[in-house]
Order: sequence, then C-alpha cells, then structure tokens
Amino acid sequence: MTATLEAPAGDEQTEVGAIPSFEVTLKIRRYSPESEHGDEAYWDEYTVLAHGTDRVLDALHKIKWEHDGSLTFRRSCAHGICGSDAVRINGRNRLACKTLLKDVNPDKPITVEPIKGLPVIKDLVVDMEPFFASYREIMPFLITTGNEPSKERLQSAEQRERFDDTTKCILCAACTSSCPVFWTDGQYFGPAAIVNAHRFIFDSRDEGATQRLEILNDKEGVWRCRTTFNCTEACPRGIEVTKAIQEVKRAMITRAF
Ligand code: SF4
Ligand code: F3S
Ligand code: FES
Repeated sequence: MTATLEAPAGDEQTEVGAIPSFEVTLKIRRYSPESEHGDEAYWDEYTVLAHGTDRVLDALHKIKWEHDGSLTFRRSCAHGICGSDAVRINGRNRLACKTLLKDVNPDKPITVEPIKGLPVIKDLVVDMEPFFASYREIMPFLITTGNEPSKERLQSAEQRERFDDTTKCILCAACTSSCPVFWTDGQYFGPAAIVNAHRFIFDSRDEGATQRLEILNDKEGVWRCRTTFNCTEACPRGIEVTKAIQEVKRAMITRAF
C-alpha cells in the first residue's frame, strides 16, 4: 500500500515557521494474521510530511493517527526512558523516539521492522515474554542475608561507580535482539539479562553474586557470547554491553567481584 499524507492547510512543503519540512517515506514491515495477508508478512509504504526535529516515532504517529489506524507499534514515554519502542530502522536496532528522521537518510525510503529473534504479534509489536523470562532468571533484585538493617546500607563512591554503567538499562531489548547468537538460539540468556546480572554482581551490598554466576555458567549463559559487539552498538543508553559481559566472564573464572 502506498499512501501520501497531505500537509495540513496552510502548511508549506519547505518551511513551517522557522522549521524546515520535508517529505519522507516509511516502508514498514507488517504482519497481521487477521488481515487478507494471513500469516504472510508484507510491506506498506507511507509518505508523510515531516519537520526538521521529527523522530521516526513522530512519523509512525502521523501514519497511525491520520491515515492507517491499523498500524500497530508500542510506545509510552516518547523520551527514551521506558524502552518500549525498539525497532529495526534501516536494518539497525534503535528506539523510534530517539531517532531523528533527518539522521537516517530521509531521501530514501526508511525501512522500519520489528526487532529480530522474538515472535511477532502484530506489525512492529513482538512478544517480549522470552526476553523478560531470561531477565527474571538472573534475579534482578538485591539479595542479602541476615536481618533487615536498621540503617541505610552505605557504599563508597568507588563501589557505586563499579556498576554504574549497567544501572542505565531500560530493558528495551535492542541489544539481545541484535545478537546473532540469540537469533539462532532463543534459549541464550542474551546481553540484556547479563547486563542486569552485572548490575547486582558488582554491587558491594549484594550477596547473590555466586548464585547469579552459577545461573549464567549454564550452557545458554555467558559463554555463548562470541564478542560480536552488535549489542554494544545497538544500546540506546550507550552501555558498554560487551565489556560488562567480559567482566562477568572474568568474575566467573576468578570469583572476584
Ligand atoms: Fe536496551 Fe541497552 Fe538495556 Fe540492552 S543494555 S536492554 S540495549 S538499554
Ligand atoms: Fe551477542 Fe553482544 Fe556477545 S551481540 S555475541 S552478546 S558481544
Ligand atoms: Fe519510551 Fe521510546 S517510547 S523509550
């Protein structure tokens, strides 16, 4: 399907106030078992008028709100916080809300697809349950023994710094769904689960590191990582994902946290 969205009355093709505008075409991979296409995925193209600061998410909204309400995608915060709108844009995993149209060569059709390796439910929406199942397995919470402390558990700035990078994860799955190992073996824990294990393994207040390392020593654990770096390149939070995985591997050998 090709659809062209008209500019609102009074809008200029080249200029809206001080913000330049331009036409952009999105080629979206769609899947809807209830449609005439049945179980076959297909592509739809839409041309919309965008402005200089518009993001891919703005274009998706424009398509959904003004032309094709059946287009389905996830989003919530629209500001890079909730992690719900990871998609493949021109073959690279990105957050639609953090990707400016002008930065992805809007002169050519921009392809938008669901992230890989997870079952597609509809259009750009995938089933995140396998991803969250791995996340739950590494016990992403503070584990301590003994009685509840009567005062705050203190930590030095250096101790906090040790796991600061991996606290930034927003569980968007851009890393795991860009990993070739995960594409071929959906049982692999995947980089996001390891990043979140790292966040607790290196936390001086936590006492569950040994348990987590044993879980990740599984045949589907850290040793499956082939240091491909796709995960690090995909992470919208700039987390050094591959480095974190290497640190967990090293901790497994040395048991030094
Ligand atoms: Fe997303 Fe980065 Fe967390 Fe992976 S590590 S889930 S890419 S925020
Ligand atoms: Fe996969 Fe990242 Fe390792 S892409 S192979 S988890 S470095
Ligand atoms: Fe929340 Fe993009 S919509 S991160």
